[in-house]
Amino acid sequence: MNDLSKISTLLIFIFFGLISVMLAEVKLLKEIDIENNQPKPPVFVCGTCIQISINRQKLEHVKAGIEIFENNCSVCHSIHEQVVGPALKNITTRREKKWIIQMISNSQKLIKSGDTAAVKLYTKYGKTEMPAFDFTKEEMNSLIEYLDLSI
Ligand code: HEC
Repeated sequence: MNDLSKISTLLIFIFFGLISVMLAEVKLLKEIDIENNQPKPPVFVCGTCIQISINRQKLEHVKAGIEIFENNCSVCHSIHEQVVGPALKNITTRREKKWIIQMISNSQKLIKSGDTAAVKLYTKYGKTEMPAFDFTKEEMNSLIEYLDLSI
């Protein structure tokens, strides 16, 4: 084997090595143990540690979002089933974030402004009025992060 082919072989090994580490990281991130609220210990490179700390933050937001949902929305909404209002599964992919915020903050204002989607829903749901909610930006973001997860 000449030097050039040795170097090429080495580069190929490094390349596949990197790919494996990346795949392993993806797998590790998926294995975050949501039930016990504990990420599995970081095993690979430190990019993973950073990612885990971001995921923990997200988890805190989602937990806050669940609480807000339970206290304010669950009398009329469920994620998976229609209750008084529509099921909210995948709402963040079905509607723009700005629209969702307007709907939550003051649905009647949105309806009165003539927003087609809001008026259509209001009519479909027998003109049941959804209360207006005065959440802080942080509360609203947590709520939306939870809706985004749709679990
Ligand atoms: C009193 C019942 C009631 C409560 C409480 C309520 N909603 Fe609603 N919601 C409705 C109804 C009914 C509709 C359908 C539109 C309408 O009638 O205004 C709706 C519509 C929506 C929509 C639009 C759904 C779609 O398919 O586009 C979103 C998003 C929403 N609600 C989120 C929430 C959130 C988040 C909360 C809690 C902070 C909440 N709602 C609290 C009754 C309620």
